[in-house]
Amino acid sequence: MCSETDNIKNIVEVKGLKHYFPIAQGVFFKRARGYVKAVDDVNFSIPEGTTLGLVGESGSGKSTTGNMILRLLKPTEGSVFFKGKDITNLSAPDEKNFRRLAQMVFQNPFASLNPRMIVRDIVGRVLKIQDPYMGRSEISDRVYAILQEVGLKKEHMGRYPHEFSGGQRQRIAIARALVSTPEFLVLDEPTSALDVSVQAQILNFFKELQRRRKITYLFISHNLAVVRHVSHTVAVMYLGCLAELASKERLFASPLHPYTRALLHSVPKPYMSGEDIFDKVIRGDIPSPVNPPPGCRFNTRCDFAEERCRKEMPIWREAKRGHFVACHFVS
Ligand SMILES: Nc1ncnc2c1ncn2[C@@H]1O[C@H](COP(=O)(O)OP(=O)(O)OP(=O)(O)O)[C@@H](O)[C@H]1O
Ligand SMILES: [Mg+2]
Repeated sequence: MCSETDNIKNIVEVKGLKHYFPIAQGVFFKRARGYVKAVDDVNFSIPEGTTLGLVGESGSGKSTTGNMILRLLKPTEGSVFFKGKDITNLSAPDEKNFRRLAQMVFQNPFASLNPRMIVRDIVGRVLKIQDPYMGRSEISDRVYAILQEVGLKKEHMGRYPHEFSGGQRQRIAIARALVSTPEFLVLDEPTSALDVSVQAQILNFFKELQRRRKITYLFISHNLAVVRHVSHTVAVMYLGCLAELASKERLFASPLHPYTRALLHSVPKPYMSGEDIFDKVIRGDIPSPVNPPPGCRFNTRCDFAEERCRKEMPIWREAKRGHFVACHFVS
């Protein structure tokens, strides 16, 4: 759908993607009392070898989107295409191949690593699942090679996760994701649990890895500076819907949606103090995704909202070449 990528192969394409979590009622016969509309009609594509940064406030549906792309959650509606193929229903061999090609790095490396396993087994398990006949020495060789690639050493193979620093633990999680030679990674806040200097090292590592291996990333974060550093294209999500999507350069230089503009202005300026630290703070809280406001999802917090915004949902459209937006007032 991104017209600037017409001649480029998309690794991932999502069309009309929705996920509604049922809110269960009753002890024995659980009935859906309502739905959390976590993701509600999202469309985007990610060209091969590029990074799409997905930003938005907490609860806007970023992780749910990533989980659906990786088949960890089934879409309520809509489709995910991986290398041109609809992956909604896969045969067992196709599923296994998909698991090899598409991997995830989570926010919290401590929670995502089994504390009772040594690093060699944490990383090697992925290989064993893919090829149950792979021998111990081949597994060790491949684990060693990938640990070296992510900046860890041979002696780290026999240690447990608690024996590492936060940055090293995230490197183990990255090694685990990379050992199957994936072509696509969902990076869900991969550095937000790390201190700033380690964060920079890991972000630069991801960029370098992309150059070397042509891996495609969906990079999820609520940190605009981080997203700007790593992304080629940026999508802004609000309450389950996309507000805007454009190249990084265009989105930061000429944002079209009032929400994107408000987000960019609400980044704190470290050299200011007191109230001046923010240009502008977005008023109010993000509404509940159980009963999202009718019309434009952002209308309850938008300075420009008019009657039409409260009634009619804006259409997701390409306002300029490669620049998508959902706002009634963008011509
Ligand atoms: N398993 C679940 N059951 C019910 N509701 C859920 C579930 N997982 C997520 N949600 C709800 O779906 C919405 C989107 O959640 P999601 O985790 O995708 O947001 P997010 O943008 O990743 O937020 P954050 O930045 O805090 O990680 C939220 O309102 C959340 O409470
Ligand atoms: Mg999340």
